[in-house]
Amino acid sequence: MSTKPTEGLLSPYTLGDLKLKNRIVMAPLTRTRAVNQGKVPNALMAEYYAQRAGAGLIITEGTFVSEQGQGWYGAPGIYNEERRAGWERITDAVHSAGGLIFVQLWRQGAVSHRSLHDDGRVPLGPSAVNPEQLIHVKGGRIMSETPREMSLQDIKQAVKDTVSKFKADLYTSSNSSCTR
Ligand SMILES: Cc1cc2nc3c(=O)[nH]c(=O)nc-3n(C[C@H](O)[C@H](O)[C@H](O)COP(=O)(O)O)c2cc1C
Repeated sequence: MSTKPTEGLLSPYTLGDLKLKNRIVMAPLTRTRAVNQGKVPNALMAEYYAQRAGAGLIITEGTFVSEQGQGWYGAPGIYNEERRAGWERITDAVHSAGGLIFVQLWRQGAVSHRSLHDDGRVPLGPSAVNPEQLIHVKGGRIMSETPREMSLQDIKQAVKDTVSKFKADLYTSSNSSCTR
C-alpha cells in the first residue's frame, strides 16, 4: 500500500520536550508591522500569527534583543516589559489556537542606521568598517554607514542582552514564555 506524500508531513514530531502536531515549521518572516514608536508587538501581529497556528511550529520574525540591536524599520523588539507583554498577547493567541511559537532573537549590529536609533547614534559594529548594505528605514532604504567599533564592554553588553532574552524567553513557564 502506498503512502500519501503528505502523511509524513502531517504526522506529529517530538522536538525536545515539545510535541509538534505536524512537521510544518513556519520560517521567520519580517513583516514590519511594529511601526509604532516603541516597536511594540501589536494586535495585527497577534492576528497574523494566530491565523498560522495550524503549523507544527511558528518561528517569529527577527525580534530585537535591545534598542541598540535594531536595524530594520517596523521590526519588533522584546527588550522591555511593554514589548514583552506585546509578545505575550501574541503567544497567548497562538496557544489558544493550538499552536507553538519560538521567537527569533535578532541583533543587527552594523547592519543598521542612525535614523533607527532613539538617540540618533551611529550603530555599533565589531570593526569600524561599513558593511555596505541597504538598510530598511522609514520611507525606504538607505546605505549603511561606518559603525562605531565596539569596546569590550559593548560586546559584553550585547552578549548579556541576547543571553538574558534567551533565558527569559525560552525557559520560562508556559504561561509567560514566548515559545510555548
Ligand atoms: C519577506 C521576508 C522576510 C524574511 N524575514 C526573515 C527573518 O526575519 N529572519 C530570517 O531568519 N529569515 C527571514 N527571511 C528568510 C526566510 O525565512 C526564508 O526565505 C525562508 O526560510 C525560505 O528559505 P529560502 O528563501 O532559502 O527558500 C525572510 C524572507 C522573506 C521573503
